[in-house]
Amino acid sequence: MQRLNIAIDGPAGAGKSTVAKAVAARLGIRYLDTGAMYRAMALWCLRQGVPVHDAEAVGAALPGAEIAVRYTDAGQRVLLSGEDVTDGLRAPELAMAASAVSAHPAVRVRLTELQRQVAAQYDVIMDGRDIGTNVLPDTPHKFYLTASAYERAKRRFDEMRARGQACGTVEDIAREIAERDYNDSHRAFMPLRQADDAVLIDTTGMSVEAVVGEIVRALGEECDG
Ligand code: DC
Repeated sequence: MQRLNIAIDGPAGAGKSTVAKAVAARLGIRYLDTGAMYRAMALWCLRQGVPVHDAEAVGAALPGAEIAVRYTDAGQRVLLSGEDVTDGLRAPELAMAASAVSAHPAVRVRLTELQRQVAAQYDVIMDGRDIGTNVLPDTPHKFYLTASAYERAKRRFDEMRARGQACGTVEDIAREIAERDYNDSHRAFMPLRQADDAVLIDTTGMSVEAVVGEIVRALGEECDG
């Protein structure tokens, strides 16, 4: 059976997860947050004392990392050696560590495989950095979301404040996001890049509903055409 697989990529704070979750709810399909899987891998390295920048050390320790994704009534859950670690994955210190571990080919190959398994099993919309270019290169449904640097930092700031996380100023977050985007788009293996056949949406100044509407409309046209 042909599965509905939708790819959403873009830099940090572009609104990918909020929009992807809303599209998933609208279409009645699953949502996969692939960033959470890289964050779980980073958490595992930190817990094991494996230096996240050291490709050799991470590669050697990788067979011991047991990462799995499950769906429950609470949505996607990420399990690390059977432990549900989902709720701690948005901690700010995991963002940069995830960006570092995600540069290692061994990590990407492993998580890409898991992501493709989810896509084969379910109708799913997944967001990340390499979904349209690497994980689901053959899907006709690809979107690349971006927004101005200030708006992306401000959204992250508001999100963290709402969760009660200490986060410094908008400028601090803008610096962190810029560094992470640089890492993610300059790594040698599967960097963040807009797929040639992705629909580009600049969400600066757009409401979530407007972005969701544009995606659902484009999907309708893709499916009719
Ligand atoms: O989307 P996020 O902020 O949770 O992602 C955390 C890091 O994980 C991000 O800086 C880069 C990496 N990542 C990736 O390389 N590829 C993906 N498909 C998703 C995330």
